[in-house]
Amino acid sequence: TEVNISAADASKEGYDHFLIKEIYEQPRVLREVISIKHNNYVINLPLEGSLSLEELKNINKIYITACGTAFHAGEAGKYAIENLAKIPVISEIASEFRYKNMFVDDKSLVVFVSQSGETADTLAALRKAKTIGAKTLAITNVVGSSISREADKVVYCYAGPEISVASTKAYTTQVISLYFLAMDIALKLKEITQDQVKDIIQNMEKIPSQIEEILKHKDEFKKIANSIKDAKSIFYTGRSLDYITAKEGALKLKEISYIHTEAFPSGELKHGSIALIEEGTPVISVATQSSILEKTISNNQELLARGATVISIAEEKNKFIKDSSDVIIEIPDTIDLLTPLLAVIPEQLIAYYASVLLGNDVDKPRNLAKSVTVE
Ligand code: AGP
Repeated sequence: TEVNISAADASKEGYDHFLIKEIYEQPRVLREVISIKHNNYVINLPLEGSLSLEELKNINKIYITACGTAFHAGEAGKYAIENLAKIPVISEIASEFRYKNMFVDDKSLVVFVSQSGETADTLAALRKAKTIGAKTLAITNVVGSSISREADKVVYCYAGPEISVASTKAYTTQVISLYFLAMDIALKLKEITQDQVKDIIQNMEKIPSQIEEILKHKDEFKKIANSIKDAKSIFYTGRSLDYITAKEGALKLKEISYIHTEAFPSGELKHGSIALIEEGTPVISVATQSSILEKTISNNQELLARGATVISIAEEKNKFIKDSSDVIIEIPDTIDLLTPLLAVIPEQLIAYYASVLLGNDVDKPRNLAKSVTVE
């Protein structure tokens, strides 16, 4: 699918790379996307992008499937649907979904997340789900893409063309779109009230300016990138929603810095991963979920005790996390559900500056394509 790209979108507009331009576009783009998806706090998903109560009553299983960054957005969507609509959601990467007996049937809703709408594994999973008779819904950024055309329902992210291979504004708009889908489902099933939706959206409306606040600290993230860019391995860690954010941070960093980076659930530390921790190993600890902060602090202390350099991403209200960290990255306060939208910004910038400092091709990293249209 040839995506029509305006001259403005096709230019770096004074930025050194498309990636940093697209990171900085996020406040504007998120403002636009949030305002499109509600009218005075009444959810406004188009008919072709939402499910009627009748359709929802005919669903007894929900799946979310995607690849890479889109899968991480999908997992945040899973968390939102489960916690708001009280429905279990099965998330699986598309290349596994295709070959597993996922027990999908004609009472299943399968959500496909894809920036390009052309990823081969995700498209093949969609086609498989359709032959089984499942209801299919796509969350995508490209109008007229294969996945948007073949799914029964489609929710657009309106991020604008994303040129850099590393996905940033598509990720944050995918999370926003999935959160609106989750609220829409939960409201229709009477699991949440309109007041709760209004509260979430009001907190969401603060996110763009909170991202602008974080972007002002870019030099801090450049300094951190410089301090970790020569590491043999770098780890991201977190629990629950923070683990999803940790996985997105690890993917961003590895794909453009080429440093071996992986995310592990902080509870798994003692089950193997801690053997990899050496003196000075950088570990970026995502520490935002209030109900499990004590656990995260004790994980940080375990890491510090083995000589790791612990860099924590935490909200201002939890600045005491600095007592169990070597470095703390403070992000503005928000509600637990929305922290992925803020904590990912330092991750994006650390990855960007590490790639620049290492002299890599930031927008076209080796071996990678913007859309993996072949298996
Ligand atoms: C993300 O930074 C990567 N470029 C990659 O993981 C990407 O998210 C994945 O290939 C899925 O692409 P899609 O969203 O276009 O389907």
